[in-house]
Amino acid sequence: MSHSESNIAIKVKNLVKRYNHILAVNDISFEVEEGTIFGFLGPNGAGKTTTISILCTLLSATSGNAYIAGYDCTKYPSEVRKSIGIVFQDSTLDKDLTAYENLVFHAYLYNVPKSEIKNRVESVLHFVNLYERKDELVKKYSGGMKRKLEVARGLIHKPQVLFLDEPTLGLDPQSRANLWDFITKLPKEHNVTIFMTTHYMDEAEVCDKIAIIDNGKIIASGSPEELKKIVGGDVVSITTKDNLYARKHIENLLKLEVLEKNNELYMTCNQGETCIPDLIRSLGDKVLSVKIQRPTLNDVFLKLTGKTIREDYAPESNSTKESIRAYRRKH
Ligand SMILES: Nc1ncnc2c1ncn2[C@@H]1O[C@H](COP(=O)(O)OP(=O)(O)OP(=O)(O)O)[C@@H](O)[C@H]1O
Ligand SMILES: [Mg+2]
Repeated sequence: MSHSESNIAIKVKNLVKRYNHILAVNDISFEVEEGTIFGFLGPNGAGKTTTISILCTLLSATSGNAYIAGYDCTKYPSEVRKSIGIVFQDSTLDKDLTAYENLVFHAYLYNVPKSEIKNRVESVLHFVNLYERKDELVKKYSGGMKRKLEVARGLIHKPQVLFLDEPTLGLDPQSRANLWDFITKLPKEHNVTIFMTTHYMDEAEVCDKIAIIDNGKIIASGSPEELKKIVGGDVVSITTKDNLYARKHIENLLKLEVLEKNNELYMTCNQGETCIPDLIRSLGDKVLSVKIQRPTLNDVFLKLTGKTIREDYAPESNSTKESIRAYRRKH
């Protein structure tokens, strides 16, 4: 590893993964700096879990290279495994053991020195706020508690890189907010680099850098702010009595590009405030409602792919947004 790369925790170069005729990962390259949160975003089947599995040495690449903490994932799998913690989409906790027993078992598996096990287990239990419930069987835990315990488990051997594949999948908004509160503390408090995947665009706001993957290809990358610049203005959305008519009018008269999603028409205006009166003037009483907002990451995705990240995308709850805002205020 050259000196200039010493602060790169993850490096992926021209990575390809083919499952028979399916090209799941199609020549992707990226780097993740130490102590940062990297978000890998994309719709179902985009290639996120496949990429994570290669980085975690659970799957071999068809071609290309991946490095964790400077170690080649193919040549030094055991070094890579020592450097990483994993929280997967599907839970792998032993439900017939207590939380405490699960963690101790995992510590043994990862060769944590015996004299340190008790301390480490207790400290991660405190960190995720489960210390009081440590002696309950995991099968009695709620979904949110299980996820937290899995994150705690992923930290037991003090990994340099923590992989989180859809960490909040299936959680209610409050548990999601809660989980994010401590995930975002990890880089500072444990000096961990985080690689996470999510479908939820609002969750990705906490990332230092994001790569958007679609059909196995990275179609954009940058900080959330950089990505939002791709949208290039305010997003105005309207509902009308006659979308076909409205669409034609907006495209012809206002020279704006219109996208239709869930019966709403979306367009980007340099200045939403002046665009709205123009819209209403030209469409008259055909307009039913108008909304204006600063671009979100979901708008970026819509702009790049013509689809929302989840076709059933629904705006996220306020509690998640609040938690994310609180996080950003602190940084
Ligand atoms: N073991 C496998 N054998 C064959 N094809 C697979 C296998 N695993 C994944 N695929 C295919 O590879 C593509 C990428 O899948 P992957 O699981 O990486 O997507 P993903 O981005 O994690 O999706 P999701 O958001 O649904 O978790 C999909 O077309 C999927 O069907
Ligand atoms: Mg997946």
